[in-house]
Amino acid sequence: MATWYALADLFLSRLDAETAHGLAIQGLKSGWVPRDRHPDPRSLAVQVWGRELANPIGLAAGFDKNAEVPDRALAMGFGLVEIGSVTPKPQPGNPRPRLFRLREDHGVINRMGFPGKGLDATLSRLRRRPRTGFVGVNIGANKESLDRAADYVTCGRALAPYADYLVCNVSSPNTPGLRNLQGRTQLADLLKRVQDAITATPVPLVVKIAPDATDGDLDDIVAVCRELSIDGIIVGNTTLSRPPSLASSRRSEAGGLSGRPLASLSTDALRRTARRVDRQFPLIGCGGVDSGAAAYAKIRAGASLVQLYSALVFEGPPLVRRIKGELASLLARDGFLSVSRAVGTDL
Ligand SMILES: Cc1cc2nc3c(=O)[nH]c(=O)nc-3n(C[C@H](O)[C@H](O)[C@H](O)COP(=O)(O)O)c2cc1C
Repeated sequence: MATWYALADLFLSRLDAETAHGLAIQGLKSGWVPRDRHPDPRSLAVQVWGRELANPIGLAAGFDKNAEVPDRALAMGFGLVEIGSVTPKPQPGNPRPRLFRLREDHGVINRMGFPGKGLDATLSRLRRRPRTGFVGVNIGANKESLDRAADYVTCGRALAPYADYLVCNVSSPNTPGLRNLQGRTQLADLLKRVQDAITATPVPLVVKIAPDATDGDLDDIVAVCRELSIDGIIVGNTTLSRPPSLASSRRSEAGGLSGRPLASLSTDALRRTARRVDRQFPLIGCGGVDSGAAAYAKIRAGASLVQLYSALVFEGPPLVRRIKGELASLLARDGFLSVSRAVGTDL
């Protein structure tokens, strides 16, 4: 861990997790977080949806829900950053405390419930930023909405012009009933309506699913995505399951579990998805990535891009450069000249 972050962590780790997160956003806004000025190894460059990214390591949704710091996050060395989930109306989310570190397990449990400043606030920030880097926009539905699919349509139509890719998040476990949108009929209806709403803006449309999906769920999800020519799937969100190995006293908190205890479950779901997708469109692997080896495992299981969030809670921004260095070494060790050659090699 870099010295500057070891000092910051001494302070942040003593605070409630959500307060620490707020300070991290403020730190990024104020420019206290150093940039990663090192050029990425050439082998990490990836092509996706007609664009070239310097590396395949992304910041997952939930860190920058309101698009306050996408460019500062890119400057930490990420190849892509996803903001959101954005809902049409502002909403407070669930009562605090709702974010817990499972320090012994390198895991996190959250039951945030989409707190956010809403579509208009996010839109005005995105309008003001320069269109550089690769920034995805993740959209969701308000808790009290009577027509959830309409919420995705509203957000999708408004935000697509400012997104390098658009994600329909139908897998957060903290909005009651949201995961039902992963069902075959509901998903097809939702994605078709969003597609129709964004025809004027040709932006890749991606769906983010739960790592808890059964083989039957995946059959349906992948069939819908193939029928509608969806551009990608993110596998996946947090899990409602609790591996028996969890040691932290916080393990029984309600909410979605992320971080290291999610790694193998989500990589398995990714592999099962990749077998069904058969390279028809790219996959994004997310869940428990905290090392180059964990990122490499996702790539070999079929991911063209990888995302992380929870590991940042424990290791801070120096993590990004470490993962990139380790990944480049692993590719070189196995004789892969580029990330894309390693995608799906374990399938
Ligand atoms: C505090 C917190 C908030 C999150 N909020 C969102 C969200 O708003 N939308 C979403 O699609 N995923 C959200 N996620 C899920 C992450 O994007 C990611 O899918 C999950 O945490 C697994 O990755 P990780 O193990 O690297 O954290 C959130 C995760 C955490 C820990």
